[in-house]
Amino acid sequence: MTSIWAKRWNQGEKNMTEITIRPESFEDLRGIDIVNIAAFEEEDEARLVTAIRHSPAYIPQLSLVAEGHNRILGHLMMFKALLEREEEKIDILALAPMSVLPSHSHRGIGSRLVMSALQQAREQAFPGIVVAGYPDYYARFGFEPAFQKGLECNLPVEKEAILVLELAEGTFDRGGKIVYPALFRQFYQTPH
Ligand SMILES: CC(C)(COP(=O)(O)OP(=O)(O)OC[C@H]1O[C@@H](n2cnc3c(N)ncnc32)[C@H](O)[C@@H]1OP(=O)(O)O)[C@@H](O)C(=O)NCCC(=O)NCCS
Repeated sequence: MTSIWAKRWNQGEKNMTEITIRPESFEDLRGIDIVNIAAFEEEDEARLVTAIRHSPAYIPQLSLVAEGHNRILGHLMMFKALLEREEEKIDILALAPMSVLPSHSHRGIGSRLVMSALQQAREQAFPGIVVAGYPDYYARFGFEPAFQKGLECNLPVEKEAILVLELAEGTFDRGGKIVYPALFRQFYQTPH
């Protein structure tokens, strides 16, 4: 008898697309727009990505695409944010937005993008990452609620939605305030 897991594995094999995760290039920009518009079912996130790309917060190597069959199937951006406390201002990364083409979701592409992003962030020696997103989704990568670490944030969202991942020991131990760039904060303040 074939087990349910064996069946799922075989199904997965059939559906498997060779995926490459790599930094975005100029030729990818249209494909990235398409993925963001399709995943979020509106244009705001695609505009946000473009705005970040033209801001000082942008780090080209940390805007990642998932490519398969010469198509952009997913996108994840990380950009500079700050952890402020007492006299300190520490550069950290913010992860957002992230999107996978609906026709290719639930196949692990999002997870591969996140894992690659975490690796890149470590290689670039950033001490921590913040994300405003689904707590259950990001918990699987080690993200924890920021408020439980005594952290505040300048985004007007529920405190449970702000999650952090420490890459250097002790980064978030002494609390502080996570400060997103103004253009990202404005995105959350604008009805959409
Ligand atoms: C969220 C998203 C990026 C995940 O991409 P993905 O390639 O499907 O992710 P994976 O295959 O690695 O993981 C899938 C798992 O993510 C979780 N997940 C997906 N969407 C979720 C959501 N809205 N809330 C909570 N968990 C979610 C589920 O546990 C899912 O497991 P399942 O396949 O067994 O149902 C993708 O669904 C997407 O683009 N969504 C719309 C845009 C969006 O909301 N992006 C922001 C995320 S904060």
